[in-house]
Amino acid sequence: MSLAEYMLRKPIAEIIRAAPGHTLRPSLGALSITALGIGCIIGAGIFVLTGTAAAQFAGPSIMLSFVLGGIACAFVGLCYAELAALIPVSGSTYTYTYVTLGELVAWIIGWDLVLEYAMGAATVSVGWSGYVVSLLKNFGIVIPPAFAAAPGTVAEKLADGTVVYGIVNLPAAFIVAVLTYLLVIGTSESARLNNVMVAVKLVVVLAFILIGSAYVSSANWHPLIPQNTGEFGHFGWSGMLRGSAVVFFAFIGFDAVSTAAQEAKNPQRDMPIGILGSLAICTVLYIAVSAVLTGIVPYQELNVADPIAKAVDVIGLTWFSVLIKIGALAGLTTVILVLLYGQSRVFFTIAHDGLLPPVFAQIHPVRRTPWKSQILIGTVVAIVAALTPIGILGEMVSIGTLFAFVLVCGGVLYLRKSHATVARPFRAPGVPVVPILGILFCLLLMAGLPLETWLRLLVWLVIGLAIYFLYGRNHSVLRKRSLPMALGREP
Ligand code: ALA
Repeated sequence: MSLAEYMLRKPIAEIIRAAPGHTLRPSLGALSITALGIGCIIGAGIFVLTGTAAAQFAGPSIMLSFVLGGIACAFVGLCYAELAALIPVSGSTYTYTYVTLGELVAWIIGWDLVLEYAMGAATVSVGWSGYVVSLLKNFGIVIPPAFAAAPGTVAEKLADGTVVYGIVNLPAAFIVAVLTYLLVIGTSESARLNNVMVAVKLVVVLAFILIGSAYVSSANWHPLIPQNTGEFGHFGWSGMLRGSAVVFFAFIGFDAVSTAAQEAKNPQRDMPIGILGSLAICTVLYIAVSAVLTGIVPYQELNVADPIAKAVDVIGLTWFSVLIKIGALAGLTTVILVLLYGQSRVFFTIAHDGLLPPVFAQIHPVRRTPWKSQILIGTVVAIVAALTPIGILGEMVSIGTLFAFVLVCGGVLYLRKSHATVARPFRAPGVPVVPILGILFCLLLMAGLPLETWLRLLVWLVIGLAIYFLYGRNHSVLRKRSLPMALGREP
């Protein structure tokens, strides 16, 4: 970008920052934003769901599932980067749709994003719980399994065949509470902590790939695509597809970077770097981790709460297993942190537009964080995490996010037509092919998810519409402004 172009664009960000109410502190540079991205991307998807999806749906073809998921995300990522740089306001997809497609569609998206952020945070907290229980066991501390599992799920099978069912997942609720506290204290503190933990988890993932690859037995990769059991989504090509839809969860987060746009020092440059950079790094790591994991352990044995640690146990390196668990915990912690952060920023923006009560837009006078909103979100997420199994949560997050991504790609297509001449600090290449492929790939992955998940999404969206018509419509800033004008009065 030339200096002249830069100077022309710079004011957009400054104008937005100067707007009343938009008083979050711009403190994040490109590196912090990429770290925020990686911090959000590598988490329960790779540390937990890769194993369970390989065991239940895809077998070793989980490697291909990651390739498919990565391709879908690359198309969406390019669209995201264009919109995030063009409209550098917190609020992610919600903001883009608000500007491009209007209030109602934006609300639907914003409501849908709760699945991605808040439910996502709950999902990862359940993954965190699995690893912390396993790590504590290494040190002789045993958390009663019934208190680390959702009600109705199998918490433990005793030697005599008795099944112990879960009552409540306390560690999952605990970690949400701690991180909510950190987020209430302040962004830069949490960003610093995030950077350290992202480094730890990257080291652990790389070590797993490097050390683990020496123990791979290629026989475990044959057949690469196990035969279908006769049921859609259970092995075979359809299993590979369902695997993609499930591990798609592992990619979620590259878009959360966009929620930090308002706190970026230079959003026009930093947003595309942050989004695409973090996505590329993670895709390569995922394919490598899934290859090593399924190469060490026969896929049938991977349906456990801590599959990566299990693989290391199989090769007999106990010290490394403890290290993996610590790294996984650091990794999962950062993801929860970023998702909780993202959720409060999405609500912040929605509340500014009047579609949610003003409490979600209140900033602490000293801390400059949306503290009340953060506490409310933390409370709900902790309760959901304590009571819901990871499988249901993960699939809901995937379908909700894929749906949001379809609309993002649609938004790029629409905006290129409706605002063709607006300067774009970052232009997605190959429009309209790239957004159209993004839409098709997301729909393909959604097709891989079971019917119940589709129904849950539908119920969720109906609840969202009810809230809009009962609250949002009557409090909408946009309507308050445009109604008097429509009636011929000054706003
Ligand atoms: N991508 C994030 C994870 O895998 C949400 O935990």
